[in-house]
Amino acid sequence: AADMGKDLEKVLIPEDELQAKIKELAARIDADYAGKDLLLVGVLKGAVMVMADLARALRNQVQMDWMAVSSYGAGTKSSGVVRVLKDLDTDIMGRHVLIVEDIIDSGLTLDWLINNLKGRNPASLEICTALRKPDAVKVPIDVKYVGFDIPNEFVIGYGLDYAERYRNLPFIGTLAPHVYNGQ
Ligand code: PRP
Ligand code: MN
Ligand code: MG
Repeated sequence: AADMGKDLEKVLIPEDELQAKIKELAARIDADYAGKDLLLVGVLKGAVMVMADLARALRNQVQMDWMAVSSYGAGTKSSGVVRVLKDLDTDIMGRHVLIVEDIIDSGLTLDWLINNLKGRNPASLEICTALRKPDAVKVPIDVKYVGFDIPNEFVIGYGLDYAERYRNLPFIGTLAPHVYNGQ
């Protein structure tokens, strides 16, 4: 449906809470990386919104690069098979790298990505994620910056999709069952 409101079950995190949390994380990142050259690595496509908001909330200048990986395809469960659709343009050897993600669900995507990026010998490698689902974790990930821990429900909005839709909602919500059932 073109009207996203009909497909929504509930709002889990409203826009103002998301924005306030991103500003808090940005202040911590500014302090932690003061005097250092930081490269933000956004994980396409889900991290687009958090990357755009986080980068603009920082006071320090940073560089941005993107990697496109996908493990979900059109479904609601992680396949565990990570496909690289676009690699970084930047050589990260010796760089301070902060991976920016929208959500850590099973942890499979980030586990794979961390191992991949560590192999390129960055000076440091940390994670910032808007959301994390503690009850869904299959691989524990050491995350320095977490926005919100959320229940194990399928969520959409603020970059997160269901079959490529709902990414442009400015809040985090859950989907009405009729969407999954195709009605
Ligand atoms: C989603 C999300 C994270 C990952 C988290 O990406 O954006 O990158 O899954 O799941 P995990 O912890 O279980 O691995 P997706 O593969 O759907 O690609 P997208 O960002 O293009 O939507
Ligand atoms: Mn993603
Ligand atoms: Mg997705």
